Amino acid sequence: MKKTVSLGIVGSSWWVDAMYLPALAACPEAEVTALSARNEGRARALADSWGIPRVYTDVAAMLAEEKDLQALLIITPNHTHYEYARMAMERGLAVLVEKPLTVDYDSARRLAEMAEARGVITMVPFTYRFMPTSRYLKRLIADGYLGRPYHLNLRYYANYAREGQYLWRFDGSLAGSGVLGDLGSHFLHLAEWFYGPIAELQAMAAQHVPRASHNEAGKPYPPVEDDAIINCRFANGALGVIQVSAVCYEDAGMKMQHLFEFHGADGTLYQEVDWVEQQEIRGARVGEGGLKPLPIPEEIWAGARQDTVHNSYRDVFRAQGHMVGDFVRAVRDQRRIRPDIHDGLRIQLLLEAAILSAREGRLVRLSELEAS
Ligand SMILES: NC(=O)c1ccc[n+]([C@@H]2O[C@H](COP(=O)([O-])OP(=O)(O)OC[C@H]3O[C@@H](n4cnc5c(N)ncnc54)[C@H](O)[C@@H]3O)[C@@H](O)[C@H]2O)c1
Repeated sequence: MKKTVSLGIVGSSWWVDAMYLPALAACPEAEVTALSARNEGRARALADSWGIPRVYTDVAAMLAEEKDLQALLIITPNHTHYEYARMAMERGLAVLVEKPLTVDYDSARRLAEMAEARGVITMVPFTYRFMPTSRYLKRLIADGYLGRPYHLNLRYYANYAREGQYLWRFDGSLAGSGVLGDLGSHFLHLAEWFYGPIAELQAMAAQHVPRASHNEAGKPYPPVEDDAIINCRFANGALGVIQVSAVCYEDAGMKMQHLFEFHGADGTLYQEVDWVEQQEIRGARVGEGGLKPLPIPEEIWAGARQDTVHNSYRDVFRAQGHMVGDFVRAVRDQRRIRPDIHDGLRIQLLLEAAILSAREGRLVRLSELEAS
């Protein structure tokens, strides 16, 4: 078996530089052989600093010329995911496609069917489930800490849309949806990972901050929501509230907060992650009185630094090789890995339901959309 996996990357953003290239540099099984991006200068600068041999400005050319590629990592705005993933899978490559998988359910379903038909390895990286806090919560809930789940509340407060400049993330023609797809996709995934499938939901969305009326090419575009709330009922009977906002005043560290609350017949769990230093879980089982800290077990930390959330994040995704490293090893071993394209498709269905619900002001049963 070949020991390394030959990878191509599409995109040259801050996220490629902050997440993917350091994680791949720390992964002995990974060999990044080519990078494609529209901005050649930026792509060359990244390639030089990370030792990537070849740079392209066209994905089709990269796929045609790089005969040894085994996988493509697609880290570009949402509207490009479908076509790049389709081209890569047509060549039999494994694909890691950033969330949200595409801009709508129909195109996501076509990609998932193609992946299935061709038997390619896929990943849609819902980053937050890899963090020690999430993995400990998952374990506590699976081990019955809450007993029968009654209630869940996941809140994601961020501040990156408080200024009104043009951002592709709030351009419906490129992003599909606004904060729902950008942050809601993460928390819908976590919600189902913790509590199982959502059966029905009701969403409300708003655009609070007026945005530039024209895109960078001077054309008008459809602006989309910067704030949303999803109420849902899980198949297990529990109720949930998922709140995502990109317009909160959060002015420290990573400028975001993740606040989780879980209630069940036998207990309560709280998570607070401020993305600076705080990454805490507290809980109480019935009869124990007030909430008390539940330290994350050492085998979950596995030596990751705990002084700042960002250092934990770096160690989890780089030194420990979660997510990106997991994907590379799955491609090498030709075995499936989660979260995969089917998990991405599931979230696209939930997003479609939330968008429909917000637009029509009504409750949407997932079975309605699954049947269509
Ligand atoms: N998993 C996570 O936590 C996480 C975090 C950040 C971003 N993302 C996802 O990554 C993707 C990219 O987001 P970002 O923050 O890097 O965006 P960004 O706006 O910072 O960068 C987008 C990159 O794509 C390039 N690009 C734009 N249009 C293109 C096209 N038509 N073809 C090829 N390249 C093109 C740009 O030049 C730029 O390099 C999005 O799908 C986003 O949701 C996920």
